[in-house]
Amino acid sequence: MRHLLSAADLSLDDALLVLDTATELATVTDRSVKKLPTLRGRTVVNLFFEDSTRTRISFEVAAKRLSADVINFAAKGSSVSKGESLKDTALTLEAMGADAVVVRHHASGAPHRLATAGWIGGSVVNAGDGTHEHPTQALLDAYTLRRHLRGGSGDLAGLRVAIVGDILHSRVARSNVLLLRTLGAEVTLVAPPTLMPFGVETWPCATGFDLDDALDGLDAVMMLRVQAERMHAAYFPSTAEYSRRYGIDARRLALMPEHAIVLHPGPMNRGMEISADVADSERAVMVEQVANGVSVRMAVLYLLLGGQKEGSP
Ligand code: NCD
Repeated sequence: MRHLLSAADLSLDDALLVLDTATELATVTDRSVKKLPTLRGRTVVNLFFEDSTRTRISFEVAAKRLSADVINFAAKGSSVSKGESLKDTALTLEAMGADAVVVRHHASGAPHRLATAGWIGGSVVNAGDGTHEHPTQALLDAYTLRRHLRGGSGDLAGLRVAIVGDILHSRVARSNVLLLRTLGAEVTLVAPPTLMPFGVETWPCATGFDLDDALDGLDAVMMLRVQAERMHAAYFPSTAEYSRRYGIDARRLALMPEHAIVLHPGPMNRGMEISADVADSERAVMVEQVANGVSVRMAVLYLLLGGQKEGSP
């Protein structure tokens, strides 16, 4: 595979290969010298047209741990703010010899365009496009679920996961539904009717509107941020009403089996989709998700850039 654009690009074997490679690469992070020579001489460009904390830093750390040269390109402060097109930006990166371009863009489909238009020769990794997909987030979520609930190996057959909240604007939800399905998990989406995407009945998952009903028997609940910046209308009456019906709090945590964990891709709106006590509880794994994101992105870069030719971990 040359690009990673969608979680649907990954077969079960591909997904397991990424997760197993990430498990191996995670051992590098535990060493005092956190570096492998695998991608020495390769250039990874982080091309971010949208704000990001975790994802951008995570890709940067991942590439650096594999000894790649990293160029961080933020649209703010570049010629993009002078109106330069995606095409001209891509041609510039190509001229500078980028082996991989990690792209986050506000337009759904931008990474696909970058990968297929013939502007660049390297690999394209989708780091979040509009409301469409965010495949490495789904991989790090799957990695986290596998570690906690499946002993760190194999698939996720039979695992019961609910994804809750602003599904409509969430690229994390779509990528997770696709990947979790590939890995054999059973997914239920829970959201107010106004935040359920059009055509959701064609997605490979169940849907529900009542969070209390959905919690019984779950292995994990994945809370989504309410994406106010993508909302141009009123989708729910008030913050208080939203968190009363769709937020996770201590009472709802107690409705889940004791082994069940809480995930959130970040950034969190504490007090809205998640209460502060749940966010800080032992059953919430957000900090681990961030750490796992580095290992998973190392695996993706390693596998796409064919690092194995130059020495394996
Ligand atoms: C998500 C994103 O940007 O899609 N965050 C992330 O990558 N960690 C989710 C969000 O912004 O709510």
